[in-house]
Amino acid sequence: MMFGKILLFLVLVTTASIGATMAKNTYIIHMDKTKTVANLFRQGDSMQTYQAVIDSINEISLQEDDQEQQAELLYAYETAISGFSAKLSTKQLQILKKVDGFLSATPDQMLQLHTTNSQQFLGLQNGKGILSASNLASDVIIGIVDSGIWPEHESFKDTGMSAIPSRWKGVCEEGTNFSKSNCNKKLIGARYFFKGYEVEYGRINETEEFRSARDNEGHGTHTASTAAGSLVANASFSGLAPGMARGTSYTSRIAVYKVCWRLDCSTSDILAGIDKAVQDGVDVLSMSLGLGPLPFHSDILAIGSFGAIKSGVFVSTSAGNAGPFSSTLSNSAPWIMSVAASYIDRTFPAVIRLGNGKFVEGISLNSGNALTKPVPIYYPLSRFCLDGSLNETEVKGKIVVCRKGNLSAYIQSENVKKAKGVGMILVNPKSGGDEQSVQPHIFPTARVGYTAGKYVRWYASTAKKPTASIIFKGTVYGRTAPVIARFSSRGPNSVDPDVIKPDVTAPGVNILAAWPPILSPSGRLGDTRSVLFNIKSGTSMSCPHVSGLAALLKSVHRDWSPAAIKSALMTTAYTLNNKKSPIADVDSSNSAGPFAYGSGHVDPERAVYPGLLYDIAMEDYLKYLCSLNYTSAEIALFAGENFTCPSNGAIRGGELNYPSFAVNFKVGVQNGSLEYERTVTNVGTPTSSYAVQVEVPHGVSVIVKPKILSFNKLGQKLSYKVTIVGKSKTSSYSSFGSLTWVSGKFKVRSPIAVTWQ
Ligand SMILES: *[C@@H]1O[C@H](CO)[C@@H](O)[C@H](O)[C@H]1NC(C)=O
Ligand SMILES: *[C@@H]1O[C@H](CO)[C@@H](O)[C@H](O)[C@H]1NC(C)=O
Ligand SMILES: *[C@@H]1O[C@H](CO)[C@@H](O)[C@H](O)[C@H]1NC(C)=O
Ligand SMILES: *[C@@H]1O[C@H](CO)[C@@H](O)[C@H](O)[C@H]1NC(C)=O
Ligand SMILES: *[C@@H]1O[C@H](CO)[C@@H](O)[C@H](O)[C@H]1NC(C)=O
Ligand SMILES: *[C@@H]1O[C@H](CO)[C@@H](O)[C@H](O)[C@H]1NC(C)=O
Ligand SMILES: *[C@@H]1O[C@H](CO)[C@@H](O)[C@H](O)[C@H]1NC(C)=O
Ligand SMILES: *[C@@H]1O[C@H](CO)[C@@H](O)[C@H](O)[C@H]1NC(C)=O
Repeated sequence: MMFGKILLFLVLVTTASIGATMAKNTYIIHMDKTKTVANLFRQGDSMQTYQAVIDSINEISLQEDDQEQQAELLYAYETAISGFSAKLSTKQLQILKKVDGFLSATPDQMLQLHTTNSQQFLGLQNGKGILSASNLASDVIIGIVDSGIWPEHESFKDTGMSAIPSRWKGVCEEGTNFSKSNCNKKLIGARYFFKGYEVEYGRINETEEFRSARDNEGHGTHTASTAAGSLVANASFSGLAPGMARGTSYTSRIAVYKVCWRLDCSTSDILAGIDKAVQDGVDVLSMSLGLGPLPFHSDILAIGSFGAIKSGVFVSTSAGNAGPFSSTLSNSAPWIMSVAASYIDRTFPAVIRLGNGKFVEGISLNSGNALTKPVPIYYPLSRFCLDGSLNETEVKGKIVVCRKGNLSAYIQSENVKKAKGVGMILVNPKSGGDEQSVQPHIFPTARVGYTAGKYVRWYASTAKKPTASIIFKGTVYGRTAPVIARFSSRGPNSVDPDVIKPDVTAPGVNILAAWPPILSPSGRLGDTRSVLFNIKSGTSMSCPHVSGLAALLKSVHRDWSPAAIKSALMTTAYTLNNKKSPIADVDSSNSAGPFAYGSGHVDPERAVYPGLLYDIAMEDYLKYLCSLNYTSAEIALFAGENFTCPSNGAIRGGELNYPSFAVNFKVGVQNGSLEYERTVTNVGTPTSSYAVQVEVPHGVSVIVKPKILSFNKLGQKLSYKVTIVGKSKTSSYSSFGSLTWVSGKFKVRSPIAVTWQ
């Protein structure tokens, strides 16, 4: 059987995607709770219920064949889904299928692990606005489903924090190099999930890896500290990006659910992490991982998140690192927040001065004066600086130009170093565009984009005696930003084009955050550096920023639903950069548009007072699944029981009360007309009047009725209708606009993305 591509949106180190492999005989079993519980056992003890199911299966299968391996229960799930996971033979699975309440079985899948100042860039100022003292006594809990945590890190100190909220049901599980005392009032829970992983690979070797919530990878420590790390003065990466490190919601509590191990992470473990987090009482789930674009009924993150949202937990996920190609986005379910990644205004320039007097700018995490004097520059015929391809006689004492290929850039720089080069200029291939995400090389390295790199390559291979020097400029602020990262996965939404995805963008390039001191920043064997903070790029880095923002909104508005928090973040997002021009892609000066950044870049100070909210009820999401023509068994995965679709009540993607509009016409259709109804809730000023402003996309006309919404109390809901009439197009085409309700300082904006195809 083939499964969709599975991505864990870890740091962008090498390739971003791999195929999933099917684990041996482990299945996630969805059960109809009403039937299992009613017919079999007493309520609330699902572990016993399912153990009894497994016991009876063992009895039956052993009667038939005494060579059969025992079936084994791994996890009982209660909130993320209703069901369990178990190790089963094919025969045992056949028996299970006859059990009353059985809905479906999905084989477990293994996911391969690939991979400070952003808070200021978000406009978050200590002691001001949303971070003012009255909001700081926050008891919001963020659950991080990732590779664990380094608990002793300063970012997880609990100085000045109040007692743990009494509603908290989580625990601090002991394990390899992890004791109960590793948790505190900041890190209030730590659990680890390995049963699916160990079925696949055998017992985790505790000399190679912590069999506990302790982080072997760095990724979980980085994301946790980005979402909710405590204040740490004087943080930097070898002096770069210096300043006060802090998580987006630095007063929130952190609970860690480790589901990723040395080789990969299994879906049964991930689901167990989500399930426990919801039971423990987290308010926000941060998941920097995802399956590729998959129908929701095959996407365990979409299914598990649905259970979380049902319990009122906000779920933030990464859009993926498969950009810049269209329709590459993961995590496209409308009930979760999908976060794209963009640059902040900070960079680390490396200015290359070529012998002909021309300057080219790259980026580098190296510092010092090693290369300020001109030396010969060399572009090898082999171009990629592969192992054994560099001739020491030709390379010695030179700056070597290497094209980025499939090989890790660290290995390329090690090859240059081995051949006695003095520095490397790493040039993006055409497919890498002008991306400027940076890696912590030991060896002096400047990375340059494709356009600038082409000039460097031309100069190095045509000049008689080419030379270059490099000046590492350290940390520079004030660059044009935000700019959308090339790697950030793009819409349109391939699962349902009637919902715009991603939802928003947030800082995700060259982000400084906490790092386990036992791991080198590059992860390379020869790298003996130990750092407390490391710089990483990926939608894995942008996702926890939004998790932190959701926690901030939750601390001010306890009663807002996950959909309401999403709405606030989306309708207040901005689309102009700090130079007042439209936010662009890194490779182009053209506006990036909703398929790159959704509603725009998050703006926390505005999101906390959005004026109006677009809310969505759980029931509507189920009716939405009906519109996708999922079978009743597929919808039952979300409902937890056999849900009957109403005969006329299916809600199409465009009909969900979503805070954005994806409008799709067929090529060649004359005067096609689509109507959308939306309902907004007043959370701004009791008596207020909102007027609509429309930025009309090319190729359509837009009619909004009514044009004024007049509220006389808080909590009041009013509806409006939008009709979009499309002119005929003869080929595929997209155009963008927006619809904004304006009342004084409140501007409630929804993007409109019109596509003909
Ligand atoms: C883990 O704990 C063991 C036993 O206490 C100790 O020898 C080892 O140094 C610890 N490892 C790390 C990386 O802290
Ligand atoms: C665990 O890893 C260590 C170090 O790599 C190795 O020496 C040992 O044999 C491994 N143990 C098992 C049971 O594989
Ligand atoms: C900040 O760190 C630098 C280098 O690590 C050190 O020299 C300096 O004294 C520190 N400053 C403070 C205020 O701790
Ligand atoms: C290395 O380059 C030198 C000088 O160009 C040349 O004489 C020598 O043959 C090269 N060595 C190899 C192994 O290609
Ligand atoms: C990179 O790998 C892909 C797939 O293995 C291959 O098709 C491509 O030619 C490689 N590119 C380079 C530059 O080596
Ligand atoms: C679902 O089925 C209906 C009726 O056959 C069809 O009109 C609609 O386009 C289908 N929707 C999807 C998303 O396939
Ligand atoms: C769900 O309901 C449908 C229609 O009522 C029925 O045909 C089907 O057998 C039910 N499935 C389960 C698993 O109970
Ligand atoms: C489309 O609308 C335009 C303007 O309202 C009108 O002139 C034209 O006849 C219409 N075409 C069709 C095929 O209805």
